[in-house]
Amino acid sequence: MSIDVELNGKAHSFDALDPEMPLLWALRDYAGMTGVKFGCGAGQCGACTVWLDGYPVRSCQLSVEAVAGRAITTIEGLSQDALHPVQQAWVDHDVAQCGYCQAGQIMSAAALLSRNPSPTDADIDIAMGGNICRCGTYGRIKAAIRTASNSFSGSAMFYDAASTTEADA
Ligand code: FES
Ligand code: FES
Repeated sequence: MSIDVELNGKAHSFDALDPEMPLLWALRDYAGMTGVKFGCGAGQCGACTVWLDGYPVRSCQLSVEAVAGRAITTIEGLSQDALHPVQQAWVDHDVAQCGYCQAGQIMSAAALLSRNPSPTDADIDIAMGGNICRCGTYGRIKAAIRTASNSFSGSAMFYDAASTTEADA
C-alpha cells in the first residue's frame, strides 16, 4: 500500500508500511526526517510537533493513513534556503540547552507567528503550552518569539494558513 503526501513541499510516497503506523515513526524511519523527536508518545510533550496543512500537530498521535493527501512540514522543511526567522531568533537568543525539544518548540512558535505575527504573552503561553522543555528554556523561547515577531511581522516568509481550515487539522 502506498500513501501519498506532500512532505516539505515535495511529493512523497510512504510505501510498504503499516498504514496505522504513527506518522512520527514514518517520518523518522522511512522519510529520514529525524528532526522530529519522540518524547512521550502520548501527545503530551510536543517533541514530535510537525505541521499538517500549516497547523501544528503531534505526529505521534496521527497514523500515516490519516494524513494521506495532506501537506506535512517538518523542521527540515521550515525554510527552503536561509534560516526561518524563528530559527534565526533561536540562534540569536541561544535558546537550546540539550536541544531535544527544540524542533517541536520552533514548529509551534512558527505556526503561531504565521497567523498571529504580534502575539501577546498570553497568546504565546497558549500556543506553546503543549511543548514541554525539561531543561527549562521557557524564558529564552519567549524572548526568541518576541524577536521573531518584531523582525517579521506579516512577512511573506510565514506560511499562508488562510487557505486551510482548523477543522482539517
Ligand atoms: Fe508526541 Fe510527546 S512524542 S507529544
Ligand atoms: Fe532540553 Fe528542551 S532544551 S528538553
